[in-house]
Amino acid sequence: MVKQNKFSIGIFDSGVGGTSIWREINALLPNENTIYLADSKNAPYGEKSKQDIINLSIKNTEFLLKLNCKIIVVACNTATTNAIDVLREKYNIPFIGIEPAIKPAALNTKSNTIGILATKGTLNSSLFEKTSKTINQKITIKEIVGKGLVELIENGKLDSKEMTALLSSYIIPLVKQNVDSLVLGCTHYPYLISQIRKIVGDKMQIIDSGEAVAKQTKAVLEKYQLINDKNKNSEHQFYINKDKKVLEMLISNNHKKLTIYEMDF
Ligand code: DGL
Repeated sequence: MVKQNKFSIGIFDSGVGGTSIWREINALLPNENTIYLADSKNAPYGEKSKQDIINLSIKNTEFLLKLNCKIIVVACNTATTNAIDVLREKYNIPFIGIEPAIKPAALNTKSNTIGILATKGTLNSSLFEKTSKTINQKITIKEIVGKGLVELIENGKLDSKEMTALLSSYIIPLVKQNVDSLVLGCTHYPYLISQIRKIVGDKMQIIDSGEAVAKQTKAVLEKYQLINDKNKNSEHQFYINKDKKVLEMLISNNHKKLTIYEMDF
């Protein structure tokens, strides 16, 4: 019988952004095989209804389970905040989710004003509201919907004039409002850090949750004795239901066993 710890870590996102999480997981757990699903055809999730996000998250989970995953990382803030409770209830497998890192931002701010850049779906979710309520009341949270950013990234326009203009329209008002910590509440946004730095210089601390998610994944695998630490040649499969060009650009890092499958799902 194949031991479950040889199975893969399944990761899904509404598109290519969750590869920012895959990268962190791969750095921390280099011996683990991974299977990444990019539902780019349905991006952005952030403008969809809660029920649509739940349905897509179920579809993605079923896809990964058929490929023998031992744990599923929901590498999407929008899917986590809207659907992870349903997934945990429905499937007998550990799920790791990702939420905007507002707690570390609240601990580090000196101006007592933090900014959260995330999708409408994340900012409107009851899970986000619940987490926000746990933050010290002296801290002001400025929420910004990053409308249009996911679409530009999905289309490979990371370094474009359109991106600079859109990002500036979201970020410059935050500088004026004395925000000193900016939380990236969407897994696509870490790919914009250099662009954001060009706009704000080092006036703001930029916080994302990638490393914390990787650590949590490791801790849960250890808890269930699912760690695969003997595998010297880990394999990484990527499935995408759109053109693979942008995905390829984001993950090309000379990794030996990287395979991308373009297919409809
Ligand atoms: N990467 C997804 C997230 O973290 C993007 C959501 C979307 O597709 O709108 O929320």
